[in-house]
Amino acid sequence: MYKIKYIRIGVFLSINNIKLDIEYIRSQFPAFKDPTCKDWSFFENAGGSYVPQTVIDKLNKFMISTKVQPYADYPMSKIAGNQMDESTKLFAEMINAKNNEILIGGSTSINLYVLSNALKSFISPGDEIIVTNQDHEANISPWRRLSESGAKIVEWKMNEKTAELEIEEFEKLLTNKTKIVAVTHCSNIVGSVNNLKKISELSHKKGAIVIGDGVSFAPHGFPNVKNLDVDFYTFSLYKTYGPHLALLYGKEKILKQLPNQNHEFLSGQYPYTINPGGPNHEELVSLSGIYDYILSIYNYHFGNDELSILEKIEKVNQLITSHEEEIANPILDYISCRDDLILIGKNKINNKDRAPTIAFYSKKMSSKSLSALLVKNKIATRNDNFYAWRCLNALGLDPNDGVVRLSMTHYNSIEDTKNLLNALKSI
Ligand SMILES: Cc1ncc(COP(=O)(O)O)c(C=O)c1O
Repeated sequence: MYKIKYIRIGVFLSINNIKLDIEYIRSQFPAFKDPTCKDWSFFENAGGSYVPQTVIDKLNKFMISTKVQPYADYPMSKIAGNQMDESTKLFAEMINAKNNEILIGGSTSINLYVLSNALKSFISPGDEIIVTNQDHEANISPWRRLSESGAKIVEWKMNEKTAELEIEEFEKLLTNKTKIVAVTHCSNIVGSVNNLKKISELSHKKGAIVIGDGVSFAPHGFPNVKNLDVDFYTFSLYKTYGPHLALLYGKEKILKQLPNQNHEFLSGQYPYTINPGGPNHEELVSLSGIYDYILSIYNYHFGNDELSILEKIEKVNQLITSHEEEIANPILDYISCRDDLILIGKNKINNKDRAPTIAFYSKKMSSKSLSALLVKNKIATRNDNFYAWRCLNALGLDPNDGVVRLSMTHYNSIEDTKNLLNALKSI
């Protein structure tokens, strides 16, 4: 890495030449030194990511000294409760939400399922709900099920040639009857980033609520939910360097109105009203280790200064984006140039219009065989439909054999890219 001198007058004037220091980044993740993982190039990040030491430390510490029922008056319990509140507060800050606008549940699938049950009461017969055929099923089935309450389900279909969701098509589907729009921020197969801000703006003009699935977006830089102006936004923390949990954000004014899905006496206590069972305590506490990790990336590259956490995240996101472009674009280019391989989605990341989540298949062999060959070459990947079952069907692919998915994140290195290209060349 090369750091350049910057001129600081309240803010940095230039970060153009600061690059993500991949050695520093990888040194934060014990997996890269672990005997089981260290010889592998890890390309399954969209399935679940490795965790930094900061997260492991928080989890360990909690388990040793404060693994008791929180919020009582004895010290261990008080500390446990305070740490849980602190983690929630820090995560809310990171995505520009209020503390009472986020909840931590077991997974995105369960969070959306509970949310859809709550939103059922907003639906009258004849109301319309827009779902896509690009999303993971977690953001489709719960909304489709509202047809049982009389909702008409309208499908926003991808362009079959490009696999993109086109805004012009969406505009044709929106009507005064549209009540809910459920759309992914980034597809876990196509990799494309959808313009959620624009989708929200158009939907709000019709009075519809927007549910954004950020599971494939958030690992590449935490979003600012207020800028996106979505009504609900969700992502899985086990893919953003944490344990197996998921975050759901909701606008306070809507959360307040949702019917209680939790114990009867908790009525009115949003967001717990849509978090039955509550979070896993120790894992929730470990989430503050993600905050520490992101902050450490900022401090290492830019120095400790007075910028707000949102400004710091914005700068860290820029570093991550440039690095991800550097490591993923050669792969996109190579696959798209091979006659026997079919790439899904754009063949280049340009200005974060695509995540480094690369799905493809072969004309000559099954995705299962192709992924087995890559695994033999110490590329950790797999074939599957990744629960984007409708997306694969729409593209005319067999959801059982699926596609091979190479999903990278900021801790992948250019060596991983070379290993992958060598493996592909040998096939
Ligand atoms: C885009 C997308 N949405 C939703 C989900 C579901 O997330 P979870 O496993 O937390 O239920 C996934 C999981 O892979 C996903 O990739």
